[in-house]
Amino acid sequence: MLNLIIFGPPGAGKGTQSEKIIERYQLAHISTGDLLRAERNAGTELGNKANEFISKGELVPDEVVIGMVRNFMVSKSGVQGFIFDGFPRTIPQAEALDAMLMEFDTAISTVLGLEVVEDELVKRLMLRGQTSGRVDDQDEDTIRNRFREYQNKTLPLKDYYANQKKYQSVQGIGEIDEIFTNLCACIDAV
Ligand code: C5P
Ligand code: MG
Repeated sequence: MLNLIIFGPPGAGKGTQSEKIIERYQLAHISTGDLLRAERNAGTELGNKANEFISKGELVPDEVVIGMVRNFMVSKSGVQGFIFDGFPRTIPQAEALDAMLMEFDTAISTVLGLEVVEDELVKRLMLRGQTSGRVDDQDEDTIRNRFREYQNKTLPLKDYYANQKKYQSVQGIGEIDEIFTNLCACIDAV
């Protein structure tokens, strides 16, 4: 299996690039943000609980997200691989993912980290907020809070995967197709 993590701060282009990657490599896309928003829109118990965190730009508790990812992976058994987008967000999530993949007799192939400076990210998110309907993209305080969560809880994953020799960094500013070409080169190198 080919199992990729697309990594980077909010607004780095993880969703955009995932769409292109799944098409080329025939992978199942796991966007935990999309799954959480779908749960919220469906008004499920999980969705209502998650919304308390999402609306403030905070991370949903590990056990909630990990359980959701597990269910999704089981439902997609038979695929050639996964691309994880927006997950893992914390070290415990990364450890749980490694354990789950081991149960499936597989592992993370590589982690693709999109590098984008914060000023550009704020610009992109405010712009996206005009059309995405996402409340967490529209308020600057919430956006800043998402960056704080990223710095404190998610950024340590860079070292976690670098220690496993699995972290590859890619410039996330430029033409979408050019960034995609660079990502493909990283994927094809593993
Ligand atoms: O990944 P995305 O930016 O779409 O996530 C939107 C929000 O969903 C995050 O700001 C966070 O509140 C929640 N989320 C989470 N844990 C994840 C993925 C998303 O708490 N693994
Ligand atoms: Mg996204």
